[in-house]
Amino acid sequence: MALLVTNVRALEILDSRGRPTVAVQATLSDGSVGEAQVPSGASTGRHEALELRDGDPSRYQGRGVRTAVTHVNEEIRHVLNGAPVEETDRRLIEADGTPNKSRLGANAILGVSCAVARAAAVSAKVPLWRWLANTYSTHPCLPVPMVNILSGGLHAGYNLEFQDFLAIAHGFPTYAEALRAVVAVHGAAERLLIQGGHVLTGVADEGGWGPQLASNEAALEVLTNAIEAAGFEPRTQVSIALDVAATHFYREGRYYLRSENRDLDASGMATLIEEWAVRYPVISVEDPLEEDDWEGWRSLTARLGGRLQVIGDDFFTTNPARVRRGIAESAANAVLVKMNQIGTLTETFEVIRMAREAGYRAVISARSGETEDSFLADLATASGAGQIKVGSITRSERLAKYNRLLALEAEGELEWPGNRPFRGLIPEG
Ligand code: PGA
Ligand code: ZN
Repeated sequence: MALLVTNVRALEILDSRGRPTVAVQATLSDGSVGEAQVPSGASTGRHEALELRDGDPSRYQGRGVRTAVTHVNEEIRHVLNGAPVEETDRRLIEADGTPNKSRLGANAILGVSCAVARAAAVSAKVPLWRWLANTYSTHPCLPVPMVNILSGGLHAGYNLEFQDFLAIAHGFPTYAEALRAVVAVHGAAERLLIQGGHVLTGVADEGGWGPQLASNEAALEVLTNAIEAAGFEPRTQVSIALDVAATHFYREGRYYLRSENRDLDASGMATLIEEWAVRYPVISVEDPLEEDDWEGWRSLTARLGGRLQVIGDDFFTTNPARVRRGIAESAANAVLVKMNQIGTLTETFEVIRMAREAGYRAVISARSGETEDSFLADLATASGAGQIKVGSITRSERLAKYNRLLALEAEGELEWPGNRPFRGLIPEG
């Protein structure tokens, strides 16, 4: 008998920044129940699906999500009542009827999409990752984490312009060993920063350090030194990824690198990244240019794409139409996948499939505003993408995902890809 959705119920909860977000509980015809909580970005892309906020200044500075919650509890509940599970996303998209989910809200829609998937996995008595892999015909494997060590940009009060300085521990035999390595790098970075006279009183939005360093290059130096101080070999064991998030310091054709004391055009940015990727063990760069500079992205990828993973986050916004265009124009070679940028699991997996078929890499990513939901760990595993980006290794909204992956590895069924996702970017050996 077909498995049907019988009820959905939403609640306004708080995310890791103390801002409202949506939680959804779905119930199916056999009594199975699943829950999901929706993440929320701060350094968002212009082309993301719309996160519906109440705009009522008397509650949470206008950030309340009671309207989205009501949409789930009334209209969506009605639309899905008695719907086969596999029709959930199609019905949600049709009921919303807008290109960017602005009527019902991508936060309402994604919460329902994920809660129904969880309930269906409960019904099938399989782990969520396996249900997702079966449903979307993927080849699961554990993901290698790309871990935030130093933060800048919007996530750390603009101490630096670049948003993320991350460590990728690819040269280890297991996920657990890779995680231990990044924890060691994080600790070594702390010691180096304190030796350098920095006062570390708290952490940035994703749990990494947000020190007042002199420049972006100084952050690269600290991270490279931390990798070595932790006893690892840069490029063969631990490499660096950058999330430039360039849209956020771009104005009218120029990139304002205040801390470097210069402003650059798109080709100047490509040259800067090229130089830093020689001097430091950088193998991956995200949003190196502004989110609508297609010409700049094409020429940067032509120059650097052979040596670097060039990821579109704000550039692609997990949008199938933008990823299709990017592939056709060779404008990048990898896509950052964030479920709430597009709003349903079906469209998220469509982007992952398009990336795989085009030979693009994919990195499954959290948002800077997260919850204790570990859905992302199962999504990354199911996708077979081989890479996950969750933020740092402090704060439990991050650890919920890292710890879930430890549990999945311990079950012994999943392959650990190690260096494989980074072939062509790191020395062969
Ligand atoms: P956001 O940032 O979740 O604040 O948009 C994450 C990222 O840019 O990768
Ligand atoms: Zn990003």
